[in-house]
Amino acid sequence: MMEDQLPQQRADEYVSLGMSRRELLRQTLLVVVGGTLLETAFSGCSVANNHTHPSSSLAYPLVFPTGFLWGASTSAYQIEGAAHADGRGASIWDTFSHTPGKTVDGATGDVADDHYHRYESDFNLLHALGVKSYRFSIAWPRIFPDGAGALNQPGLDFYRRLVESLLQRGIRPMATLFHWDLPQALQDQGGWENRDVAKRFADYADTLFQALGDLVPAWLTVNEPKTIVTQGYISGTHAPGIQNPARAYVALHHLLLGHGLATQAFRARFGRDGSRLIGPALNLSPVYPADHAEGTAAAVTLQDGIENRLYLDPIFKGSYPTDVVEALGDTWPSAAVIQDGDLAIIHTPIDHLGVNYYNPLVVTAGPQFVNGVYPTTQASWEQIYPNGLYDILMRLTRDYDRVNLYITENGAPYPDTFASQTVDDPQRIVYLHDHLVAAYRAIQAGAQLRGYHLWSLLDNFEWAEGYSQRWGIVYVDFATQQRYPKQSAHWYSEVIRQHGLAQPQG
Ligand code: FCB
Repeated sequence: MMEDQLPQQRADEYVSLGMSRRELLRQTLLVVVGGTLLETAFSGCSVANNHTHPSSSLAYPLVFPTGFLWGASTSAYQIEGAAHADGRGASIWDTFSHTPGKTVDGATGDVADDHYHRYESDFNLLHALGVKSYRFSIAWPRIFPDGAGALNQPGLDFYRRLVESLLQRGIRPMATLFHWDLPQALQDQGGWENRDVAKRFADYADTLFQALGDLVPAWLTVNEPKTIVTQGYISGTHAPGIQNPARAYVALHHLLLGHGLATQAFRARFGRDGSRLIGPALNLSPVYPADHAEGTAAAVTLQDGIENRLYLDPIFKGSYPTDVVEALGDTWPSAAVIQDGDLAIIHTPIDHLGVNYYNPLVVTAGPQFVNGVYPTTQASWEQIYPNGLYDILMRLTRDYDRVNLYITENGAPYPDTFASQTVDDPQRIVYLHDHLVAAYRAIQAGAQLRGYHLWSLLDNFEWAEGYSQRWGIVYVDFATQQRYPKQSAHWYSEVIRQHGLAQPQG
């Protein structure tokens, strides 16, 4: 057995290495400006800025720095299934997906990839591909079925076995504490709108730090608070399905507070000697002007605030961006919500930042979002613009504290055709190649980028889209649960083997 041949490695050995949103970017956009919910429509027009970058001058092979980590990413609700196994409680995604009309074809994560029972063979596959870092998430309702109170030991044991299984294969675990599956019991108490939930999150996090901290070197607190704001609380296309901007920003503040409190608990336990690392995973999008019209530049600045600074500034600077707060007006939470001292907690120093990158945004003075400037994937919100990744990484490098950066998600769904036990997916290969070129260029230009985790290892439950979009480099036959590496998996394996890109693609 492969795992028997590999020495058990401890966590610290790795550290030294170095609209659905979906709707949001589709036909109709909900943008909250000046306290009003504006409906903005797409229109076709050309991008007026000159944000193109020369890549022809690159000399292949593009070899990445020593220690750069090649990874893959998943999340609990999207792959685990086993919804009722070993005392797991319900999450808001169980409730939401079981509510008629909320997901494509009424899909749920009840079974998903059945990874809960198949993680050993999935990790054999991961190891065979040569992947060095695996980003996964822990399901809060497996640990605390009621969100708080009684610990569910079998749930904790599952993740201990899972992490050991990764380490046995020489794969570095990167654990996300919260990838959207809030225990339903906490939602019943107000969910993230309830300040107390931030404290419950820190308790849950600290339970995991204690239980798994000896094995897991790298942690992520919350995944994509922006998607929770926009999809969970404004468009309502994700759980908990609320459509209320004012409530969205209360939830945001408590999510960030939870991030800060968990980070403090982490520091209290592990200090800051670099052997244990923590930070959030944010989805960031560069915003570009659609034209040179009067007012477009200001719209770009404000939209950048809504997309990026609203999440980055409190964490890195200890303040919310004043232009966004002003623009949101009464929609922004009052001092009863944002209490004295909260921002200092949110500003607790982090060790790394996870960057999820899928798309840029193009805006007019309207403000209107312009779609169709760049080609899209099967997810029509995902405009393909690899240089946007370069721009985001350089912007972080320029405007924020220097912390290690990891791409924690990047990938694409295509209408994969299964044939001859595989999927020929040249478009995905080009997509991944081009984004890795952008990452490489950013490193050359000084970005402290330490690793890349593609989304996703496996085809899985893509939230409101159910199983209608395949994002994996491994094809999953959901009827049999058989896994078949796509051509992109073989390609990625070769990239890892060469520690970079041998030649241009496409
Ligand atoms: C991200 C999510 C991830 C997956 C990808 C496609 O926003 O974090 O779970 O759905 O999009």
